[in-house]
Amino acid sequence: MEHYYTQNPQSPRDIKSISFKIKDMFLELYTDSSVFSKTKVDYGSEILIKSLPELSGNILDLGCGYGVIGLSLAKLYPESQVTLVDINQRAVELTLRNIERNQIKNANAHVSNGFQQVDGLFNTIVSNPPIRAGKNIIYPLFEQSINYLHPGGSLYLVIQKRQGAKSAVAKLQSIFGNCRVIYKQGGYWILESTKISAQSG
Ligand SMILES: C[S@@+](CC[C@H](N)C(=O)[O-])C[C@H]1O[C@@H](n2cnc3c(N)ncnc32)[C@H](O)[C@@H]1O
Repeated sequence: MEHYYTQNPQSPRDIKSISFKIKDMFLELYTDSSVFSKTKVDYGSEILIKSLPELSGNILDLGCGYGVIGLSLAKLYPESQVTLVDINQRAVELTLRNIERNQIKNANAHVSNGFQQVDGLFNTIVSNPPIRAGKNIIYPLFEQSINYLHPGGSLYLVIQKRQGAKSAVAKLQSIFGNCRVIYKQGGYWILESTKISAQSG
């Protein structure tokens, strides 16, 4: 069955354009069929962007879809360097078009299954994770994320309470030794875990 995390979607194209405004920043984004939240920006993604502290350095958007989280951060923090990855080729293609369309100079995107095609270390990793793929897919991503953070770097996730936010907190606590719920709204929790010194997973 085809879903939003299919690697190479075959569904007929249905390119749409949506506008997104947050914190006085504006994006025009292409979306398409077989890509997550194609008709409007997901509420969880919006809350995640809104609740993040000021960021700098290298940022990774893991599971970027058409790019809304990473591209918002690239525009909000022009001195940062943002890498966006997704397993879904169509999502990455849209993100690349959205980088061009919004004339963003400090972002790049490529296909990656989890961290398999990710190089280097990041100050921040952000994700609206593919909860529907199941814990056996997303928990290994949480475990690997610590290996891609600089010491002092943080992972930020948005997860709905009814989709397992509490157990995600426990999982992150076991990996990082810390997990704070930094914001809650409308059933969505924003989680923050920070890599202490030279921990690895
Ligand atoms: C909940 S969606 C969020 C999309 C986008 N960040 C947004 O906020 O609209 C999760 C994304 O993770 C991607 N994904 C699923 N499994 C993945 C994997 N193993 N590696 C990378 N990305 C994956 C999906 O294709 C999807 O785009």
